[in-house]
Amino acid sequence: MLYLIGLGVYDEKDLTIRGLEALKKCPQIYAEFYTNRFSGSLNSLEDLIGKKIILLKRGDLEERPQENVLKDSSDLDVALLISGDPMVATTHIDLILRAKKLGIPYKIIHSSSVYSAIGEAGLQIYKYGKTASLVYPEKNYFPTSPYDILRENQKNGLHTLFLLDIKAEENRFMSVNEAINLLFEIEKQKKEGLFSPETLCIGVARLGGDTLIKAGKAAEIAKKDFGNPPHSLIVPGKLHFMEKEALELFN
Ligand SMILES: C[S@@+](CC[C@H](N)C(=O)[O-])C[C@H]1O[C@@H](n2cnc3c(N)ncnc32)[C@H](O)[C@@H]1O
Repeated sequence: MLYLIGLGVYDEKDLTIRGLEALKKCPQIYAEFYTNRFSGSLNSLEDLIGKKIILLKRGDLEERPQENVLKDSSDLDVALLISGDPMVATTHIDLILRAKKLGIPYKIIHSSSVYSAIGEAGLQIYKYGKTASLVYPEKNYFPTSPYDILRENQKNGLHTLFLLDIKAEENRFMSVNEAINLLFEIEKQKKEGLFSPETLCIGVARLGGDTLIKAGKAAEIAKKDFGNPPHSLIVPGKLHFMEKEALELFN
């Protein structure tokens, strides 16, 4: 059996009892922290489980899963630990499809996620539109699609959640400040007046841990220090009066 187990939104204390019970049965345990930053400690997690954990890189899992998680899971209970919920904003459905083709049974153990914890920022969850991912630009690669998503959501009065780039192997995690500056750069190219220094933004850091949420004009939020990652950014759409009141908590 292959278990995909969510570690939850912040650290090892977010692991569910169901997840812990499954881990006790698994002689082989892997983890990947490239789809989300794990804010806990690998040692504390190993102490909690009482077993060693093998850390996998993106290439191990996306290109060579038959050499690790899929290798023994037809005979043994094998676990893959994933920060947050295993099926939220990850590519792990691909792994499940591969397991299925190989006749390997699998079980998903859900946990808390940025998608639920973001409710703490005070906006109604069903009024979010499509999520956008902001990535670090590279030479000849500067995707502006997040701006298109923002335009579409704004047109429909919906809130936009920006998930921010993670380069785990370089220990680089995009901050709220970098995200806002990136949107300013894209605005300079597109010139549609969609994102300006006056645009209302909500910067969110470390949900589930020592959370920091700040709401204000983009120019002001861009100057605030949000501390350690992970960070997310929200650009609200049309606000209900109760959402407006909730945002006052974060001025
Ligand atoms: C690709 S998503 C993976 C989401 C994860 N599977 C989950 O269910 O939470 C990773 C991004 O979500 C956001 N994120 C995840 N955890 C967060 C937290 N505790 N606080 C703020 N943002 C978070 C960050 O923008 C991070 O770069």
